[in-house]
Amino acid sequence: MDRLYNIWLLFFLLPLLCACSGAKGQHEQYAAFHPGALWLDNESVHINAHGGGILYHEGVYYWFGEHKIAGRGGNSAQVGVQVYSSDDLYNWTNRGVALAVVETEGHDIERGSVIERPKVVYNAQTGKFVMWFHLELKGRGYEAARSAVAVADEVTGPYTFVESLRPNAGIWPENLDTAFRNTDVDVAAYEWWTPRWEKAITEGLLVRRDFEGGQMARDMTVFVDDDGKAYHVYSSEENLTLHIAELSDDYLSHTGRYIRIFPGGHNEAPALFKHAGRYYLIASGCTGWDPNAARSAVANSIWGPWEMLGNPAQGEGADLTFESQSTYVLPVAGKEGAFIFMGDRWRPRNPIDGRYVWLPIVFEEGQPVIRWHDSWDLTVFDK
Ligand code: DGJ
Repeated sequence: MDRLYNIWLLFFLLPLLCACSGAKGQHEQYAAFHPGALWLDNESVHINAHGGGILYHEGVYYWFGEHKIAGRGGNSAQVGVQVYSSDDLYNWTNRGVALAVVETEGHDIERGSVIERPKVVYNAQTGKFVMWFHLELKGRGYEAARSAVAVADEVTGPYTFVESLRPNAGIWPENLDTAFRNTDVDVAAYEWWTPRWEKAITEGLLVRRDFEGGQMARDMTVFVDDDGKAYHVYSSEENLTLHIAELSDDYLSHTGRYIRIFPGGHNEAPALFKHAGRYYLIASGCTGWDPNAARSAVANSIWGPWEMLGNPAQGEGADLTFESQSTYVLPVAGKEGAFIFMGDRWRPRNPIDGRYVWLPIVFEEGQPVIRWHDSWDLTVFDK
C-alpha cells in the first residue's frame, strides 16, 4: 500500500503541485505594467536590464540593459549587457548577453569595469546594430568618464567592442563663445560652487580643461531623428553640463559638431524624444543612486535653444520621480503621441533587485506629464 502511495505521489501529485505553485517558467502572462514590482521574464526570473533602452526593430522590441549581480559589488560589470525581446512590451524573453565583458586584464571592458546605460540603435545605411554605453575602467571609480561603442550584425548580438573614448577631443562646442575658446585655465584657482565658479562654468571652464583629451561623458542616451541622424547626449563636465553631439553617418564616431546645454545644471540620466516636431528631454539631478526630482526641457531644434520645463512628474511621490531615475523614453510603435517613461529604482546594496518604473507620458499644454499608476496598460493611450 505504502509503495502504491509513493508512486501516486511521484507521478501525479508532485507534477500537479509544481504546476500550481508557479515554478520556473510557469508564471502567468502579463497584461499590464506594474511599476516598481518584480518583473519576471519568460523563465520567471526578474528582468536584469538596468539603465536600459529599447530598440524597436522589425516588429519586435529589444530591451538592452546593465546586467547586475547580487550584493554590494553588483554594480560593476561581471557579465555585460543583457538583452530581452517582446512583442507586447509586457512579456519579455531573455535573449542572453548582447555584449560580454572580456577576461583580458587591462581591456577597456574587462570584468569589473563599469558598463552603464547601454543604448542600441540600428543603422539603415550599414545594416549594423550600434551600441553606445558609459564606461568606467576597472579600479578607477568614475574618473575615466568615457563613452564606448560596440557593433553587431544581429540585433541580439554578439556585439563586438570597437573603442572607448572621451568625445570631441580638440573640438570646441558650437555654442561656446569664441572669447572663451582657449585652454588657458587653472581650475584649481576656482573655489567649488562660488559665484566665480558658476560664472567660470558658464564660460566653459571644464570644457577648456578637457579640450585636448576629450570631454567627460558619463550618463548618456542616443537619439535617432526622423532623417536618420543620430545624436549622443551625455552628462559632461563633472556631471554639471549636458552635451548633445552628432554621430557620424555610420553611428560609430562623433562628427565634432556638439553643443552644451544648461551649463552648471547638474543633469544626469538624459532621455530624449520627439513629439509633434519638438524635441523633449527628461533628466534627473545628481544624487548618486538616490532618486531626486526629474526635470524636462523642450526645443524646436536639437541644436537648441533648449528651454527648461520643470519636473514632468506630478502628484504624490513626484518630488522623487516616484523613487526612480530616468533611463529612456520609449515611443510606442503604431500609437502616435504615445510615450513611456522608463526609470530605474536602484538598489545599490543589492543591484540585481533594482526595479523598473515605467509610466505613461501625457502632454498637457505642450508639456510632458508623468503620473503614478499602480498598474496600467497601453489602452491609456487610446483615451
Ligand atoms: C547616477 C547615474 O545616473 C547612474 O547611472 C550611476 O552612474 C550612479 N549615479 C552611480 O552613482
